[in-house]
Amino acid sequence: MTQDHTRPEVNIGLVGHVDHGKTTLVQALSGSWTDQHSEEMKRGISIRLGYADATFRECTGLEEPERYTVEEECPDGSESEPLRTVSFVDAPGHETLMATMLSGAAIMDGAVLVVSATEDVPQAQTEEHLMALDIIGIDNVVIAQNKVDLVDRDRAVENYEQIQEFVEGTVAEDAPIVPVSAQQEVNLDLLIQAIEEEIPTPDRDPDAPSELFVARSFDTNRPGTTFEDLTGGVIGGSLVRGELSVDDEIEIRPGREVEEGGQTEWQPLSTTVRSLQAGDDQADVATPGGLLGVGTGLDPSLTKGDALAGQVAGEPGTLPPTRHAFEMDVDLLDRIVGEGEVEEISTGEPLMLTVGTATTVGAVTSAREGECEVNLKRPVCAAEGVRIAINRRVGARWRLIGVGTLK
Ligand code: GTP
Repeated sequence: MTQDHTRPEVNIGLVGHVDHGKTTLVQALSGSWTDQHSEEMKRGISIRLGYADATFRECTGLEEPERYTVEEECPDGSESEPLRTVSFVDAPGHETLMATMLSGAAIMDGAVLVVSATEDVPQAQTEEHLMALDIIGIDNVVIAQNKVDLVDRDRAVENYEQIQEFVEGTVAEDAPIVPVSAQQEVNLDLLIQAIEEEIPTPDRDPDAPSELFVARSFDTNRPGTTFEDLTGGVIGGSLVRGELSVDDEIEIRPGREVEEGGQTEWQPLSTTVRSLQAGDDQADVATPGGLLGVGTGLDPSLTKGDALAGQVAGEPGTLPPTRHAFEMDVDLLDRIVGEGEVEEISTGEPLMLTVGTATTVGAVTSAREGECEVNLKRPVCAAEGVRIAINRRVGARWRLIGVGTLK
């Protein structure tokens, strides 16, 4: 099968401190950031997890790194050839959006950590985002040392050394550090080369049962649409394994909460895939990589307003179990960024847990050193062994304190 290099095949997170230049960098690499998002379905996905697709290309007549580009025309006038299309997930750098960053991390195959050369290293979210990558186990990392146009050589070298020191002992220890200016489009070729080398497309098994992490869900009907013209609910997210085709039957878990005789219970939803939107195109078949909009036969009131965000969709009978409570092994961080040491988890305390793209609050029902049991407010669909980001309330915010492994 010849591969279509213009379809996204890998998800790359853009992480780093607020204003260090993540959005500018994605713009420089993908060109038309805003007008790619004209349609309602895609706009919906990008609000929660900003994303853009970029096709990396090569000018076969040039040496490395100059051969790497995002332009269709090479400096020598020849046409460049598409190498690979990547989907950038732009994690918000703002401190209150850490939960969004963590649920985005569930669908990242690798990450670019953007660090501004104009500030000392690390700034708070530089550190917090790197810890999150460490915790979730994203070890294909490239560091973009951005805004080098604003500093002199000595400062750039000093900042480079600070970055090296800061990443020691973390998942980004061996990550290449590429000095760039996103705004002036300097060294983007080197950055593309580093991404091509460090963040390969994962091996995928097309025969594995499909599993999609739902990041958003919506009702795309305009108010006042008549019954005959209503279209079914839409879910947006990323396939983590298998393939999805139009007309496939899918199951969505945990599904919806129903009340019977004063008791509430969660029932999985079953539906059919009616349409698929991958990148800019309608598709008959979708594969992992990039964000996907899936039109379903569901009543749109079920998908409205992100009602299904954090759930899992895929081949009926193959999805992980729905859990209302679970036990996990716990590995705490040494300290909370800017706050000091992390104390042990105690029985009764509330924790915010990110499981896949789901964020849920759990009450600790029993805690021992290195493990605890939680009762969830909203159930999650999760397999044994998954990694869970654990957050504790400190002041007015939820702060990352460690990682759990579901038992
Ligand atoms: P959040 O999404 O809010 O976390 O910010 P961000 O990291 O996406 O930063 P953004 O791309 O919005 O850039 C912040 C500011 O820095 C903007 O005014 C950019 O124009 C500027 N900027 C980004 N990259 C560069 C660069 O390489 N050089 C210079 N001089 N300015 C830059």
